[in-house]
Amino acid sequence: MTLQIKSIDQYHEVYKKSVTDPEGFWAEQAETFTWRKKWDKVLEWEFDSPSVKWFLGGKLNITENCLDRHLETRGDQTAIIWEPNDPSEAVKTYTYKQLHKEVCRFANVLKKNGVQKGDRICFYLPMIPEMAIAVLACARIGAIHSVVFAGFSASALADRINDASCKMVLCSDGNYRGAKTVPVKAVVDEACKSTPSVETVLMYKRTETKVEWVEGRDKVWQDELEGVSDVCEAEEMDSEDTLFILYTSGSTGKPKGVQHSCGGYMVYTTFTFKNVFQYNEGDIYWCTADVGWITGHSYIVYGPLSAGATTIMSEGIPTYPDYGRFWQICDKHKVNIFYTAPTAIRALMAQGLQFVEPYSLSTLKVLGTVGEPINEEAWRWYKKHIGKDKCPIVDTWWQTETGGIMISSLAGVTPEKPTFATLPMPGIQPVLLNAEGTEIEGNDVEGFLCVKFPWPSMIRTTWGDHERCRSVYFNRFKGKYFTGDGCRRDENGMYRIIGRVDDVIIVSGHNLGTAEVENGINSHPNVVESAVVGFPHQIKGNAIYAYVIMDGVVEDEAKTRQEILEVVSKEVGPIAKPEKIQFVPGLPKTRSGKIMRRILRKIAAGEKDNFGDISTLLNPEIVEAVKEGALG
Ligand code: WT7
Repeated sequence: MTLQIKSIDQYHEVYKKSVTDPEGFWAEQAETFTWRKKWDKVLEWEFDSPSVKWFLGGKLNITENCLDRHLETRGDQTAIIWEPNDPSEAVKTYTYKQLHKEVCRFANVLKKNGVQKGDRICFYLPMIPEMAIAVLACARIGAIHSVVFAGFSASALADRINDASCKMVLCSDGNYRGAKTVPVKAVVDEACKSTPSVETVLMYKRTETKVEWVEGRDKVWQDELEGVSDVCEAEEMDSEDTLFILYTSGSTGKPKGVQHSCGGYMVYTTFTFKNVFQYNEGDIYWCTADVGWITGHSYIVYGPLSAGATTIMSEGIPTYPDYGRFWQICDKHKVNIFYTAPTAIRALMAQGLQFVEPYSLSTLKVLGTVGEPINEEAWRWYKKHIGKDKCPIVDTWWQTETGGIMISSLAGVTPEKPTFATLPMPGIQPVLLNAEGTEIEGNDVEGFLCVKFPWPSMIRTTWGDHERCRSVYFNRFKGKYFTGDGCRRDENGMYRIIGRVDDVIIVSGHNLGTAEVENGINSHPNVVESAVVGFPHQIKGNAIYAYVIMDGVVEDEAKTRQEILEVVSKEVGPIAKPEKIQFVPGLPKTRSGKIMRRILRKIAAGEKDNFGDISTLLNPEIVEAVKEGALG
């Protein structure tokens, strides 16, 4: 059984052991899993290349840990509860036995279609149980899944398929989102016009939407399952074999395929799941994320299932049929542990209590948040109106790259503090550095958040481009993993994440690269150049403010804005649409040609002065012009 820390003293004791003897500590944790062959060595690492390997020589299959090992003890326990978009549609549940069979069947479908160990499979699917089944089926046969959020545009999808040379795309015909039916297959068709590696498109019939069909390439998921065996021996994987790739936006150029490996990821996500949420046998756990994000990978699928939990997957959106949907689902399924994002909390808070009051929420024991800093007002509302002042809140700080939760309280065990992620997990050694890379010791300090020692679920590389992994995460501060976040450590040693210090904007909890959004804007034929920054937004946390240089005079601003929104939507996805678009004559640049976003961020936030030293600019005069045209 995975260790579950039960008191603050035990936390301090375990933490101490985990940093004085990390290898001993993680070996003890790893012992609690099913391995085909035990590891020869716990850890080998250096952060210069970087090269990080955990549980070297160990052989396993993560699905034997998520499924097979539970069959005897909890085969008839519910593994997944699926709640459809439409509350009147039937709920689906899968026991561990049933889930095991479904995973084996789908694994056989993949095999029958020529998928082999190491092949990359792209997912572009709504939140249906088949998504979790297919993720596990890939893992079962050693294929590498690359899940792309099904709200991304065709060209964003094509980029990701091409980067990993995916052989197969899994999709649905359409997707139910609130009152709308959104086409999915049509987006895949559009993307696949420029993806030579794709041999098969497997489509799940969900909405019965009419679709185009490419003979020989396209197949119907349900048909492929006909008569397929439900027995499938799991592939033996090395600890360091790749489990999956997940794309995340960067500050420069194309998105990065963050690569995670089997052994360490399994150990770390299971350990953090059990400890952060204090999951106990029989608890009903619901994480509202989409499997298209790391949160869904680690804390809907792998962590909970490996821990033998009952995990809810929900297809819909928090606002349909009304703003009480989350709370209605909590009551309906007697949810004990509820994990969501600050953006959702703020959106629901804004609608008032009449959407909360009809529900008892009496089964809730633990609340969690993830994705961005949570403001104090939202934290207090969540605590009082959802948690009824009796549920601890875990504010979990982590990243796609970290694979699992890094800084968080342990629900009800270690102290919480509004807007603070609080304390590092066992085995996590955070440090704050100043701009010169010197470690800032002591408390009541602020700096760049780095991690100085490896942990089992950390990023191994960026797909196809190891240099990118090195330069983005391991180059800025020698010998340290750089998170890209600014952070404060208070007088008691508690951590508070301030936000990104690099060029990424988090909108509604989604990480958007400025570069990707700018590329989208620039694809408008009359746009010369653009720069986007985040600015504080009541609901979204951050929204996008775009500064755009147009070719010639803009005749009709409203029309041009509309056109820009359309291209961004098409090129990147609707989530990336700027909230505000200001037409400018130029952009403030450094002498090396780098846009001074610091200044643009201030203008977007409504500041009129205090721009600091602008003498380093190539074109200081432009600041005045940009300020004058600023949109309130
Ligand atoms: C960035 C990572 C981890 C899954 C969702 C996002 C921000 C995340 C918190 C938090 C303050 C947070 C950070 C981080 N972030 N959680 N609890 N408090 N900020 O994954 O897309 O990889 O984004 O999200 O800035 O670096 P991601």
